[in-house]
Amino acid sequence: MRFTRLSAVFLLLLTSCASLSREPAEAHDPVRGEQVFRANCASCHGERGRGDGASVLSGAVPAIPNFTDPTTMTVHTPTEAFTVISEGRLDKLMPPWGSVLSEIDRWAAAAYVISLRAAPIEAAPMAEVSGVFRGQVLNGTAGGDLAPDTTVALHGMDSEMNETLFELALVQPDGSYQFENVPIRADYAYMITALHRGAVFTSDVISGDPSTAQIDLPVTVYDTTSDPAAVTLDVFVLQIAREMRAVRITQVINVANAGDHAFIPDEGLIPLPENAEILNRDELIVTQPILPGGDHLMRVVYTLPYSGTLDVSIPVAYPLTSPAELMLAPDTFVVSGEGWQDRGGGVVFGHPVEAGGTLSFTLTDPPAANANDSTLIALALAVIGGGLVGLAGYGWFKMGRR
Ligand code: HEC
Repeated sequence: MRFTRLSAVFLLLLTSCASLSREPAEAHDPVRGEQVFRANCASCHGERGRGDGASVLSGAVPAIPNFTDPTTMTVHTPTEAFTVISEGRLDKLMPPWGSVLSEIDRWAAAAYVISLRAAPIEAAPMAEVSGVFRGQVLNGTAGGDLAPDTTVALHGMDSEMNETLFELALVQPDGSYQFENVPIRADYAYMITALHRGAVFTSDVISGDPSTAQIDLPVTVYDTTSDPAAVTLDVFVLQIAREMRAVRITQVINVANAGDHAFIPDEGLIPLPENAEILNRDELIVTQPILPGGDHLMRVVYTLPYSGTLDVSIPVAYPLTSPAELMLAPDTFVVSGEGWQDRGGGVVFGHPVEAGGTLSFTLTDPPAANANDSTLIALALAVIGGGLVGLAGYGWFKMGRR
């Protein structure tokens, strides 16, 4: 049924471009085309035009084009097919039908032959079975239990990552959950999220497999804490650029959680210097807790007013375990301050800082510019390096926010 409708649509589309060739209206009747084809052509071209008719299989006629695969064909329009059908290619054992079939029948056969290539487009519909998702919600915090109001959601995403499925269920007292009658398709991806004590936790993402109708997908949740005792910063990179009467700082930090509670900070994760004007505020909403053993890479971009010299003082919320790094293009600023070490190439290293401390340095104008090859190379390196760090931070941050 669908095939006929599709063929009709296809033929309608053909009509518009074939009208120049004076193709008669009757030719648009796919039933007529199919009848002509079965009666006269299938012995060589095969019932479905795949080039596997009896005469080909017996070896009487050599290899022959497959009408469902346009790459094997030399004709691409009904008009071209009409010509071959009418005149034949006797040297290749394709008979001429000009004096055997009426013009209308040849047009109908031509349109039918061309329409066959539409068949693969509506290939078998995606297999779908009705399945069951079940699994166990476990609390991964030592000694932790499950809150009685823990709920789970089943998410199904199609190949374009649109959410096509969303169902909610309450977790049973024994920690199990179940979703029934879930459409399972190979082009879908599935994920369970659990809402536990105000925080959202996610399972693995799996792809659908219609041969498995019973899917076991566990989710680990944790108790949460706002106590940062187990939280450290292991990346702290500042890319510093010059603007009109301002310094633009791109600050990339990685917040790591070594504890066994999921960490949700009471206030923002990134304390900033006074006067900082944030340029990417909408990127900074953290909705997910930082899991035990996990981390959050974040990027914040801000400007500070500058007039020839600037004391920068950045609060550090959690212990900074590795030296901070400042990345500057040459001849933009000179960095000074205790504990800072310029190792060339536009990178200045700082030092570890305790929680509640500050990273402090002073920016001043460089001595009169004196560009030579090595500063140009350093500039290129700094720009490339800075770009990479910016991108990594950005990509990660987008992931972290999902
Ligand atoms: C005796 C076998 C035979 C019969 C019967 C036959 N054909 Fe063919 N046909 C061939 C062969 C062989 C070719 C390949 C010619 C070539 O290689 O150029 C061919 C080629 C074609 C082509 C060109 C395909 C392309 O793109 O190269 C069309 C269109 C075609 N046939 C339509 C028909 C139609 C419509 C009928 C029935 C009315 C029909 N044929 C009957 C053997 C046959």
